[in-house]
Amino acid sequence: ADSENGQLLQLHQKAAELYHYILVGTPAGEAGLRYLTRRGVSRELIDQFQLGFAPEQQVLKAYCDKEKLDYQLLRKSGLFTEDHAGQLHDRFAERVMYPIKNRRGQVIAFSGRLLSTDQTDLPKYLNSPETPLFNKRRTLFNLDQARKAARQDGKLYLFEGFMDVISAFGAGVQAGIASMGTSFTEEQVGIIHRTTTQLNICYDGDQAGQNAIDRAIKLVESQPTGNLQVRVVQLPAGVDPDEYVQRFGAEKFRQYLASQEETTVDFYLRFLRQGRNLDQQGDRMDYLNQVLKVIAKVPTPLEQDLYLTKLAQEFSLDKAALQSQLTQLSSRS
Ligand code: UTP
Ligand code: MN
Ligand code: MN
Ligand code: MN
Ligand code: MN
Repeated sequence: ADSENGQLLQLHQKAAELYHYILVGTPAGEAGLRYLTRRGVSRELIDQFQLGFAPEQQVLKAYCDKEKLDYQLLRKSGLFTEDHAGQLHDRFAERVMYPIKNRRGQVIAFSGRLLSTDQTDLPKYLNSPETPLFNKRRTLFNLDQARKAARQDGKLYLFEGFMDVISAFGAGVQAGIASMGTSFTEEQVGIIHRTTTQLNICYDGDQAGQNAIDRAIKLVESQPTGNLQVRVVQLPAGVDPDEYVQRFGAEKFRQYLASQEETTVDFYLRFLRQGRNLDQQGDRMDYLNQVLKVIAKVPTPLEQDLYLTKLAQEFSLDKAALQSQLTQLSSRS
C-alpha cells in the first residue's frame, strides 16, 4: 500500500483536478470564471496555476465517498471540517481555489478566495490547516516554477500575495514567490538562500507593505545567509504588483522591476524619513543617527563611502564628520 503521505498527495492532486474542472468546464464554476476574467487572469494562467473553483455543494466529499476513501485519511488531509458528530464537510465552499505546491510541483494544500469580501466576516483567503504535507512556515507559493525561472538571472521576487505572483508570471516575471499569508519566516529565508543568490522584495505599495519590507530585511539579516543579496523594489503608493500589471501592463511592470531595484540601505534612507520633519534639527539628527546605524552594518568600506557622500550632499554636512560618527557607532557595537 502507498504511504500515508503518498495517499494524501494523491487526494490533493485529485482535488485540484476536480476544482479546476469545475471552474473551466461546468456551470457551477461560472461565477469563479467571471471573477478571474474580471481580474484579468487569462485562461493560460488559469491552466498554468491549475486554478479552480469550490462551489457551494459538497463536491469533494461526494467524490471521496464515491471512491470509498478512508475516513482517517480525509480527516488528516485538512480538506474537510469535522462537525460534532464526526461528519466531514468540504472546508472550501464558494471560493476560487489556488493550489499550493511543494518545490517539486505536487499539490500539498489550498488557499481559497472569496468572490466578494463585502458583507462578510469570513476571511478573504482561507488556507488549508497544517497537515502532514503542509507546513506553512516552510512553504512558498510558486517555488516549483520560480526556482526554475531563477536559474536565468539568479533572482527570486518575493511578493505579498497569490494574485501578485500570478499576475507577475503572466507579465513575464516567472520567478515570483509569496509566503503563506502569515509573515515571512526563518525557514523560508533558508529555502531562498539555498535556491538563489538574490532576493528582490516587492511588497504592496502601502504602509503595511513598507513595514513588512523592514521586517523581512531584518529577518534575512538575522539569518546565516552568507552571500544572499537582498534588494527592494518599492511600488508606487496604493498599488500592489497585481494592480500595477492590470493598470499599466506587462511591459511597464517589467521595466519598473528592472529600474527600481534598490539596496536595503537606500530603502532605509527613505523608510526612516517617515514621521520625521527633516527641516527640524532634532528630527534631522535623529534621522542621521538611525541612518548611520544602518550604514555601519554595510560590510564594504567603498559602499559605506557612497552612502556617506550621498548624506553629506543632501544635508550639506562635512563628510569627515559623518565618517567619524560612523566610526564611533561601529566601535561601540
Ligand atoms: P492582501 O490583502 O494584500 O491581499 O494580502 P491580495 O494578495 O492583494 O489579495 P487580492 O488581490 O485582494 O485577491 C496579502 C496576502 O495575505 C494573505 C494572502 O496570502 C494574501 O495573498 N491573506 C490575506 C490571507 O492569508 N488571508 C486573508 O484573509 C487575507
Ligand atoms: Mn486546464
Ligand atoms: Mn497587502
Ligand atoms: Mn495586496
Ligand atoms: Mn491584490
